Amino acid sequence: MQIRPYRPHQDFRALLDAQCDLYQLNFPRFVCTPAFLADQAQRLRVAGRRPLENGIFVLDDQGTVAGFVWVAVRMDLQGAYGSIDQVYLKPEYRRQGYGKWLMQAAEDFIKKQGLATARLYVTRENHDAVNLYRGMGYDVTRYEMERPI
Ligand SMILES: CC(C)(COP(=O)(O)OP(=O)(O)OC[C@H]1O[C@@H](n2cnc3c(N)ncnc32)[C@H](O)[C@@H]1OP(=O)(O)O)[C@@H](O)C(=O)NCCC(=O)NCCS
Repeated sequence: MQIRPYRPHQDFRALLDAQCDLYQLNFPRFVCTPAFLADQAQRLRVAGRRPLENGIFVLDDQGTVAGFVWVAVRMDLQGAYGSIDQVYLKPEYRRQGYGKWLMQAAEDFIKKQGLATARLYVTRENHDAVNLYRGMGYDVTRYEMERPI
């Protein structure tokens, strides 16, 4: 088992195949459409061509993509930061500590880019993800609130 940089030609399909599962788990009303997949494919193609702005790392189990993390360099009113946009493990690789490996790779990339902040969004009910992030020192800085109307 090893973490290595994303190889577009080899890994593109596996990362795209994970997109529906990743979004369905985090957004209960989400519907995975061909248009959504086409958008994600395009984002991934662009990211693969911009390795300084996009750190994508794969958890490789003897040639099989077991999971991946995708971190993007972004800028907002507070300055530049590393945005951990996607962390994903195939179901059979969850709850074995690999989430932490992926997060570590994302943070190493953020440091290497000279940035001092890692930021991410997570659905409150996604307990494994929330626990992983809290355990690594992530704290809540803003709330996204809603109510049925
Ligand atoms: C979120 C995700 C990456 C977390 O990865 P993970 O490897 O399962 O996370 P952890 O290593 O923290 O493990 C989670 C649980 O397994 C336990 N665990 C960790 N290592 C373990 C080991 N070696 N043996 C047994 N259990 C272990 C942890 O203690 C934790 O349990 P707890 O919450 O009861 O304390 C993974 O669940 C996932 O891919 N989910 C689907 C995609 C997703 O929702 N991504 C997040 C989007 S924001």
